[in-house]
Formats: sequence, structure tokens, C-alpha cells
Amino acid sequence: MQALVEKISEAIDFLKPQIQQTPRIGLILGTGLGDFSQQIQQQASIAYEEIPHFPHSTVESHAGKLVFGTLNETPIVAMEGRFHFYEGYSMKEVTFPVRVMKALGVEILIITNAAGGMNPQYQLADIMIIEDQINLMGDNPLRGINDDRLGLRFPDMSAPYDRGLINLAEQQALALQIRTQTGVFVAVTGPNLETRAEYRMLRQMGADCVGMSTVPECIVANHASMKVLGLSVVTDICLPDALEPVDISNILKIAADGGKKLARLIPEIIANLD
Ligand code: HPA
Repeated sequence: MQALVEKISEAIDFLKPQIQQTPRIGLILGTGLGDFSQQIQQQASIAYEEIPHFPHSTVESHAGKLVFGTLNETPIVAMEGRFHFYEGYSMKEVTFPVRVMKALGVEILIITNAAGGMNPQYQLADIMIIEDQINLMGDNPLRGINDDRLGLRFPDMSAPYDRGLINLAEQQALALQIRTQTGVFVAVTGPNLETRAEYRMLRQMGADCVGMSTVPECIVANHASMKVLGLSVVTDICLPDALEPVDISNILKIAADGGKKLARLIPEIIANLD
């Protein structure tokens, strides 16, 4: 089997000639942020299918692309469409784009997602700045032989989300009068939503939001010594004793509402980086 570093360097050899600047920021666009890349002054847009070793899209996942350009003059690469574990991809496939971003020179990874809110203080379309995470996906992208060129065997996870970025996101949201929460994100595999008993358990474990992504990407970014900022949009209220059946079209509508807030917030965060 081909080593991960070789696959990464083949992807880089393909991408590098097509980009003009080294991206400093990597952005993973979650549900609701579909339009965000229109804000990027685009220099190149490359379909995942064309990139060596990028996973092949399943029927369910949208045809995705990597968008390169600048946002407030900061060079950025955005993933329009992400790979979910529930679609059948391995953890290594789900996180391959993060490896590629690192190899391109990305220092800061901004991960967005749609999530269920379990903290009773949370309201629909709130933005939760992720402070910490719990991996309940039953797998790990770092499982297997460690390649020391990519990171440590036992990476530290005492601060998986960068404190400086959390503070910056809070400050900028305040300035824009966007309501935010700061809390713990737990990832499950999905694709089913949780039962009442599961929401109760996840809340008791200490999680504020639950979703089906982000945790693998954050683990790999930490392994690769990237700084991570995680932003969730609360798309459904998951109080086990007052649970309403979910309506996916409603989740998508709320995700779009929250996405509009993120579309205002993210450029300000980027403009105010050190
Ligand atoms: N559970 C898991 N993932 C989700 C949810 C949820 O309630 N809402 C949006 N993504």
C-alpha cells in the first residue's frame, strides 16, 4: 500500500502549479455555508475528482471542490463539500484534505458544521464556538503505523481548539452583535439522529452540541500542529424530555440562517488575525 506521505505529495504536485499563493487559512464549509466561497476572490477552483488520492464522491455527497483565493487579502483554501464518515469513507479518507492543506502551507484550520444543541441555554441558529471535543465515532484517523514526518505517535489534545482563536471569534462576534455560545462538541457516526436516551447520555457526558463531523479533521490538524477554530451552527434543539421529531428540511433552513452569521463572522476573524 502506498504511504500516506507519498499520496500527499502527489496531490501537492498536482495542486501547486495551479495556485498563485500559499494559503495560510484552510476552511471546511459545513451545511449552510454553501455560498461562502462566493466571498473569496477566487484564483482557482479544482474539483475533488481531479485531485490525486482525494476520495471519490459517493452518490450522497455533493460534487465538491477546493477553492483557492484570498479573503480580505489573506490567502485561503476552502473545501466546498466535505467527506463524512457515515458516507462510508475511512477516517484516513475523511481527513486526507487536511493533510493536503497542511502540506500546502496552511497554518490555521477553520472547521464549520451543523449540530444538534443539547445545552438548554442554546437557541436555534446560535453559533457555538467549539472549546473542546469528545470523539465517540469509534475510530480514529491516527490508527495504524505513525509516520513521524506527519506528527507524533501520541499527540497532545489538552487544547485541541486554539485559545487565541476562540477569544478572537468571541470578540469579533460581539462586535458584530452575533450571539455565540462556547462549548463542547461530541461527534457520533450517524447517519441517524440520536434517540432521547442518547441525547441524555451525551449531555451527561459533558457535551453541548452533537454532530457527525469535525472531530476527525480536528484530530489530524492537531497531529499536524495546525491551529484549529471550530464553529457549529445549532440546527435543532435536542432536549431529551421535550424532543420533537426532526425535519431535515427545517435543519437545512436553520443551517442557512446560521450560515449567514458565519458568513459575516469568518471574514472578520480572518481580517483580525495576528
Ligand atoms: N445529531 C447529530 N448530528 C446533527 C444533529 C443532531 O441532532 N443536528 C445536526 N447534525
